[in-house]
Amino acid sequence: MGLVCVFVNQKGGVGKTTSAINIGAFMAEAGKKVLLVDFDAQANLSSGIGANPPKPGIYELLSEQATIEQVTRKTAVKNLEVIPTDHDLSGAAVELIDQKERHFFLKETLAPVKNKYDYIFIDCPPSLGQLTMNGLAAADSMLIPMQCEYFAMEGLTKLLETTGRVQKDLNPSLKISGIFFTMYDPRTRLANDVIKQVSAHYKGLVFNTIIPRNIRLSEAPSFEMPISLYDPQCPGARAYQALTQELLRRDNMGGKHGS
Ligand SMILES: Nc1ncnc2c1ncn2[C@@H]1O[C@H](COP(=O)(O)OP(=O)(O)O)[C@@H](O)[C@H]1O
Ligand SMILES: [Mg+2]
Repeated sequence: MGLVCVFVNQKGGVGKTTSAINIGAFMAEAGKKVLLVDFDAQANLSSGIGANPPKPGIYELLSEQATIEQVTRKTAVKNLEVIPTDHDLSGAAVELIDQKERHFFLKETLAPVKNKYDYIFIDCPPSLGQLTMNGLAAADSMLIPMQCEYFAMEGLTKLLETTGRVQKDLNPSLKISGIFFTMYDPRTRLANDVIKQVSAHYKGLVFNTIIPRNIRLSEAPSFEMPISLYDPQCPGARAYQALTQELLRRDNMGGKHGS
């Protein structure tokens, strides 16, 4: 059974999309079959992985204008596929979701292909709105990227409160796979303080691997490549590879999400 993981954080610019693409690519390189789902109308994942044109995509799938086979594309990485999106998603999906079983729309849409993949990664928008709720209702587990900054802790508290409500009302088997730090700059004392504080407070949830700030990671999407193809030896690539291995080890150690 494939695991559905959402990359979630209501804050924008914390590394959700970058992490979904790059962990997805390293998982695929490790022999896992992975589907990326772009569930953010900003469509950064779609353009970053080179899904051009982005239509038909997740909106056409949700609105039954296209089948899942028609919207699923191959990428430059073997075993890595993507369902793209475009800017229509935000308004359109809210209408759609309002019409039907609101929160379970994405879950039902992905159910037929869940067994075709080892991992399905959903890249959520920077909010706790309707789309993210659909992501959380569909997911077995959550991956939370965090920037090492002052307000990160507050944001995390709110996110975990929402998670509690989702677990109670929508998805009792939702697990928190873990929190990881991104865009780390070792020169700032604040970054180190935040990491210490969050790690102490959420023992066991924080991944050991920290993703450094690395310009190569921000360049790769403009070449429509994950970092594993763009610059596999750069520090950002090595960090995402290590994080992927850590995640795979956690999943193999009986900490399997959603079971
Ligand atoms: N580790 C990193 N080092 C440098 N730039 C990064 C890193 N991670 C992400 N970025 C850049 O920061 C911006 C925000 O990242 P993104 O993954 O789009 O965040 P989100 O999806 O949470 O909004 C993007 O321009 C991205 O290329
Ligand atoms: Mg994003």
